[in-house]
Amino acid sequence: MTAKKVIAVCGKGGVGKTAYTSMLTRVLSDRVAKTGEKLLVVDADPALGLNYALGRSTEKTIGSVRDLILKTAEQGSRKEQAALADKVDYLVAGALDEGEKYSFLAMGRMDAIGCFCSINELLKGALDELSSSFDIILIDGEAGLEQINRQVVEHIDTLILVTDSSLRGMKTVQHISGLLKEGLIPDCKSVGVVFNRTQADVAPLMKFAKDLNIKVLGFVPYDKEVEAFDLEGKSLFDLPADNPALKAVAESFDKA
Ligand SMILES: Nc1ncnc2c1ncn2[C@@H]1O[C@H](COP(=O)(O)OP(=O)(O)OP(=O)(O)O)[C@@H](O)[C@H]1O
Ligand SMILES: [Mg+2]
Repeated sequence: MTAKKVIAVCGKGGVGKTAYTSMLTRVLSDRVAKTGEKLLVVDADPALGLNYALGRSTEKTIGSVRDLILKTAEQGSRKEQAALADKVDYLVAGALDEGEKYSFLAMGRMDAIGCFCSINELLKGALDELSSSFDIILIDGEAGLEQINRQVVEHIDTLILVTDSSLRGMKTVQHISGLLKEGLIPDCKSVGVVFNRTQADVAPLMKFAKDLNIKVLGFVPYDKEVEAFDLEGKSLFDLPADNPALKAVAESFDKA
């Protein structure tokens, strides 16, 4: 991959990866508007979510384009149709949602029928395909850990581990940091943890990170406006510039 910067956001389910990625999209899109760089935001979670948080289309995904190809390809054997459907450049061209401020790509779900490729193989192919066209690629990962292994993302510059204050969220951070130390996930130039939805004393969280020897990027406070925007289906991209959670996201990214 040749994109200048690949940023991946990971963590346990429900900790706030998508909210963080949405707010970081806003921060980065404000910055690239000044620098002229090209930003691509990828929803790698098959269950989607980032499209809602960013107010983007739900219809165009790598999975849905692939299903359409499979359904509409009238000629050729099943095997030939499946081979066509797995042509990544074709799928990317159909699913990429180009925007003025940033472009968006959702992986979506794969129809198991005739699927020779897993979603993660397609994600890898799509990233390879697009990396030369973008300067920054920001990926909202699925809750599992499979996507950050070497088979999917060859190269990550900045790995942002998001957790809430729960023990299970932090255990996932511990697990990922263990994989990193064992060399089971790609070497990242920068890795750090962001504590999200914090409300009370952050001292125990600091201690947790210190014990694990992980850099603390920041604390994103529990924010009523973020919660209300999500509840009302409003895009987190449109949060006011002085929103405390949005400001904390920008500061945490600058520490990475
Ligand atoms: N800083 C915050 N303040 C208030 N609410 C938040 C904050 N961050 C996230 N939330 C809320 O927490 C919920 C879960 O967040 P989100 O969907 O971003 O988690 P996730 O890690 O992406 O989940 P999944 O693993 O299911 O994709 C959402 O309802 C979101 O609005
Ligand atoms: Mg999510």
